[in-house]
Amino acid sequence: MLDQNEYLIASLKQVSNDIAHDMRRPLARMRQNLERAIGAHGPSDTMHEQVECAIEDLDAALEIFSSLLKLAQLESGAWNNEMEPLDPARLLESVLEPYRSVIEDNGQRLETEIIPACPTVTGHPVLLRQAFSNLIENAVRHTPDQTTITATIMLSDKTITIEIADNGPGIPDEAMLRVFDRFVRLDTSRTHDGNGLGLTMVKAVVQLHRGTIVLSHNNPGVRCIVKLPIEL
Ligand SMILES: Nc1ncnc2c1ncn2[C@@H]1O[C@H](COP(=O)(O)OP(=O)(O)OP(=O)(O)O)[C@@H](O)[C@H]1O
Ligand SMILES: [Mg+2]
Repeated sequence: MLDQNEYLIASLKQVSNDIAHDMRRPLARMRQNLERAIGAHGPSDTMHEQVECAIEDLDAALEIFSSLLKLAQLESGAWNNEMEPLDPARLLESVLEPYRSVIEDNGQRLETEIIPACPTVTGHPVLLRQAFSNLIENAVRHTPDQTTITATIMLSDKTITIEIADNGPGIPDEAMLRVFDRFVRLDTSRTHDGNGLGLTMVKAVVQLHRGTIVLSHNNPGVRCIVKLPIEL
């Protein structure tokens, strides 16, 4: 009980620190934009543009807020009582579907190997869906055109293995563990959108399902291996 309380307090502190640190930039920009809007003496459409920019920044800040709060909930074990039996293979297929056209438009390729009859796991459909789509999103967003992305589901013993791999630029050794931390984005990804919270969220969701997640080299590229127990 005491351990759990200490953990919750530490987690809350971490969230507060992260918010204080990382919200400063979008909030400062929003303030600047609003100030410009108030001081603008130009035509009304200038005012409109400034306010729209401010709203975009506000949306970005709110997205970070809600992700951090969700992470804190996940790490404290909330959602545990919202689990239900589900088929992870069908869930992965439905997550992949909307990405097919994006991948094609990007000049990338998607290959899948998904077992037709998959045992059920006890899981949270919304959270697992988000975890799978974060991994696919990473493979799409952090790799160039011509990249092949593979999504695989395999069954071994009492474990379902979900693997999302790509043959893109990969992640250097020193960052393989660090990318799971909040707000970590490697220099090569600075030009892309993103808050560096996707993998933190995936890890928290996998751990809630008593699973494991490991990143490894795909020579070239990244292999992300998620293992979920069939019997919880
Ligand atoms: N498949 C990949 N190939 C290369 N680099 C990757 C890959 N997946 C993740 N990364 C690196 O790890 C970093 C952290 O990933 P993470 O998903 O946590 O954040 P993000 O994708 O930048 O933002 P978001 O919060 O929108 O997910 C990325 O910014 C990128 O530098
Ligand atoms: Mg991501």
